[in-house]
Amino acid sequence: MNTRKKLLLELKKTFGENISGEILSSKLNISRTAVSKHISILKKSGYDIQSSPKKGYRLTALSNLLLPDEITDNIKTSVFGRKDIFYFDTIDSTNNKAKELAAGGAPEGSIVIAEQQSAGRGRKGRSWLSSSGEGLCISLILRPIIPPTEVSKLTLMTAVAISEALLNFTDIELKIKWPNDILVNGKKLAGILTEMSMEVDAIDYVIVGLGLNINSKKSSFSDEVKEIATSIQIETGNVFSRAMIVKLFLSWFEKLYFEVQEKGFHTIIKRWKELSNIIGKKVSVNEAGQTLIGTVKDIAEDGTLILIDVNKQIQKIISGDVIIIDD
Ligand code: BTN
Repeated sequence: MNTRKKLLLELKKTFGENISGEILSSKLNISRTAVSKHISILKKSGYDIQSSPKKGYRLTALSNLLLPDEITDNIKTSVFGRKDIFYFDTIDSTNNKAKELAAGGAPEGSIVIAEQQSAGRGRKGRSWLSSSGEGLCISLILRPIIPPTEVSKLTLMTAVAISEALLNFTDIELKIKWPNDILVNGKKLAGILTEMSMEVDAIDYVIVGLGLNINSKKSSFSDEVKEIATSIQIETGNVFSRAMIVKLFLSWFEKLYFEVQEKGFHTIIKRWKELSNIIGKKVSVNEAGQTLIGTVKDIAEDGTLILIDVNKQIQKIISGDVIIIDD
């Protein structure tokens, strides 16, 4: 553990109380000048630390940033988010960075987090817009031992993981919309972008990217998405710790990810169906310029959408944009 991390740990132990520079310098075995230098760096990273020449230092608020130290602190996972956390203030896209790192050999469980993306990507070439410091832009590097044909189910699994994480601390009525949207009151709260690289017929790596609106206010959204997006704060009226949400998400993700590789996706598909708002609904599905209208019969074990079209024919849809016509 590096010195600044140790110092932060000492300040957290005495959260809200003073600890003298002298005690800190002897505990960390560094000079008092070094303590003061580390303190100013921590302050710049957003930690609220009161300093007084007589009383020493007092940590009064944690940083709002998604700093690796805040994520690793008390994390309950064994692989994801434990050590290989790549953190950026601004980056084009966390998925792009994760791909680059994965191609360079980064291990499974590495995560990329950014406060802000300048070219965040959504499905089908769309963009993902988010405001700095209010949401979550995260990409996970996976090296799953599953057939490449099963990769799309990891998107469904991620939707279940983030839903379960959110339901742990809120009672918002979220719904999963096939295949990758999390909606609340019909507005988008989160989106998932899964990308894969293959070698011959085996998976080299999979990147799962999650964008989640956490503490965004209505005014934080651009005009483009104002009417179609929502956030946890808008839905609950409360501000939440983003680091807490990341940790919960990673715990759920890791649990389900290891489970599906051992036991298959059956339980996930079942839970996905419970959380989805689509079965039995009349929908229109748009794929590559073609529109199909019908009623959703089911989600198959392989994650495809099963529709009964207007001619009572069964249609299996692998990908597309779904709009619910009749609620
Ligand atoms: C969608 O709804 O179409 C998917 C949106 C996915 C956005 C996330 S934000 C983190 C990661 N990095 C990206 O560039 N995209 C994903």
